[in-house]
Amino acid sequence: MTRHFLRDDDLSAAEQAQVLDLADLMKKDRHGYRPLAGPQTVAVLFDKHSTRTRLSFAVGIAELGGQPLIIDASSSQMGRGEPIEDTARVLTRQVAAIVWRTAGQERIETMARYSSVPVVNALTDEFHPCQILADLQTVREHRGTLAGLTMTYLGDGANNMAHSYLLGGALAGMHVRIAAPARYQPDAVILDRAAEIAATSGGSVVALSDPYAAADGAHVIATDTWVSMGQDGKEERAAALLPYQVNGELMRQAAADAIVLHCLPAYRGMEITADVMDGPQSVIWDQAENRLHAQKALLAFLLGAG
Ligand code: CP
Ligand code: NVA
Repeated sequence: MTRHFLRDDDLSAAEQAQVLDLADLMKKDRHGYRPLAGPQTVAVLFDKHSTRTRLSFAVGIAELGGQPLIIDASSSQMGRGEPIEDTARVLTRQVAAIVWRTAGQERIETMARYSSVPVVNALTDEFHPCQILADLQTVREHRGTLAGLTMTYLGDGANNMAHSYLLGGALAGMHVRIAAPARYQPDAVILDRAAEIAATSGGSVVALSDPYAAADGAHVIATDTWVSMGQDGKEERAAALLPYQVNGELMRQAAADAIVLHCLPAYRGMEITADVMDGPQSVIWDQAENRLHAQKALLAFLLGAG
């Protein structure tokens, strides 16, 4: 059966660990794994802007022995309204996998429904599961483990990153805390699903409004832009989210050796201050690099599973 990765919980806890282990091996031996030799082609489609996702998939697919085909929606027929179903039917006969960054989750679900090759979510409005694999690889590298660690995300608790931290962190057995004001709390359905996963993994999830209570003793502090792609209301968001800024004072509440994550792009002085972002606790550049290794491992896993 074709396996897709549309949201974090499309992998079981054991499969997530397997992908992270493979990502570590691939990081040590960049050119030693070639499941796309041929070369087979992977289509990487973008309906939204990207730097890291485009870079890491293009480099990663080439390192796996394959050929990346990067397509911007604006220059394809999809951008002129060709149905997702028809695009899927055409792509699926020629490529080994489809990677897509788009808006609504239902769009990538439709792509997967009509695709006989793996479809990978490279960010939707609801989830950013490839990013969380890289984040987990980074935490494991710096802390040696995932299960039992407390990971606190502060900021827009209703965005793709918050939702993926909930699901992906719960799968890994972590204690995930989201800190956000009432208006920007996570989707209740996703929070419930994460709680259900946490109950089987030994982790926990909680959504709080007090940033200091959320950061208290945390091993990992994470944040993301206050204004995601496609969103407006920049000033209103900045006013509501300022108390959730990751700054020196907030970091003093976390564990003394806490590490800091940000998926990037970052806005210094908004969701994170420059001294924290560029300081000794930041592992943000490792995190950005690990997109490459984690996604290579994911593709190899999905192709192998199929
Ligand atoms: N973190 C991330 O997905 O970055 P890009 O938007 O640059 O791809
Ligand atoms: N939440 C951000 C993540 C960017 C990688 C966005 O969707 O714009």
